[in-house]
Amino acid sequence: MREPFHWRTAIAYKTKDRIVVRGYDVNALVGNLTFSEMAYLVWRGELPPEHHARMLDAILVSMAEHAFSPSSAACRFVASGGVPLHVGVAGGMLALGSLHGTADRPAELFKLAAERMERDGLTMEQTARTIAGETRQAGERLPGFHHPQHIIDPRTAHLLHLADDYKISGTFVALARAIEAATEEFWGRRIYLNGPGAVGAICLDMGFDTELIKGVFLLSRTVSLVAHTYEEIHRERGWRASSSAAVVQPLDLSLQRPEFYDGPSDRPFPPRKKGR
Ligand SMILES: CC(C)(COP(=O)(O)OP(=O)(O)OC[C@H]1O[C@@H](n2cnc3c(N)ncnc32)[C@H](O)[C@@H]1OP(=O)(O)O)[C@@H](O)C(=O)NCCC(=O)NCCS
Repeated sequence: MREPFHWRTAIAYKTKDRIVVRGYDVNALVGNLTFSEMAYLVWRGELPPEHHARMLDAILVSMAEHAFSPSSAACRFVASGGVPLHVGVAGGMLALGSLHGTADRPAELFKLAAERMERDGLTMEQTARTIAGETRQAGERLPGFHHPQHIIDPRTAHLLHLADDYKISGTFVALARAIEAATEEFWGRRIYLNGPGAVGAICLDMGFDTELIKGVFLLSRTVSLVAHTYEEIHRERGWRASSSAAVVQPLDLSLQRPEFYDGPSDRPFPPRKKGR
């Protein structure tokens, strides 16, 4: 005999009168926890150590807004179709992939590097050289490194300094720094750790699982996506194609002239068989 259906969760429960999150009455949390501490508790089941809470707060602030990037541009285009706020935000979220908003992919790289260092008995420098060398040899890119708009991402050094100050920096931050240093040999120039790369390393040193690290980024960047979607809805006129706007719009016909088309040339439609 099978049990009747019921949800199974270790996160929270509620009754008619109470809401209990990870064992704490929600009203004991409200007014006592910062939002970052609450996120940490809900995600990981326990309250964060003091410095981890401050570090998570700093990370969430650092990734909350980044002007025009794939996700903010995406949410604006979605919003320009005349959809409600949450649809624009969801559209922006869909642009957070392996090349943008990716703190989880660098975290995976640093985790693999640490496993390899342990398994093969390598020094940190040897591990970093191996990872950088193999990536270059394969013609691939290091996740969490380089930023096409900044080159040297202005968020990285500050985040790493905070992680050092809070005594959070451990093996993963050290590996991230070592891999950055090793790029010079294989690329002939330094390929710099970017902000999400730093977030990946720091979150690993705080004991976050890589999928939850993606969650950290999603939470932070949602702030931006709400703002960009809201502004697009209220400040722009929709469609982004109006030829009477003061600024040439991204969907203006002048930006999609026939000479930019490189598909089949104009051609007559072939005669069709009678009776079709
Ligand atoms: C974001 C990204 C797609 C931008 O790529 P891009 O537009 O080609 O960047 P640029 O034109 O400025 O690249 C300049 C050079 O740096 C190299 N480069 C760029 N990102 C690199 C990386 N992550 N690892 C190694 N080399 C990299 C490129 O190979 C290129 O050199 P080449 O043309 O001689 O091969 C790329 O940097 C990347 O894949 N990064 C990893 C993913 C990531 O961390 N994304 C989050 C960004 S916040």
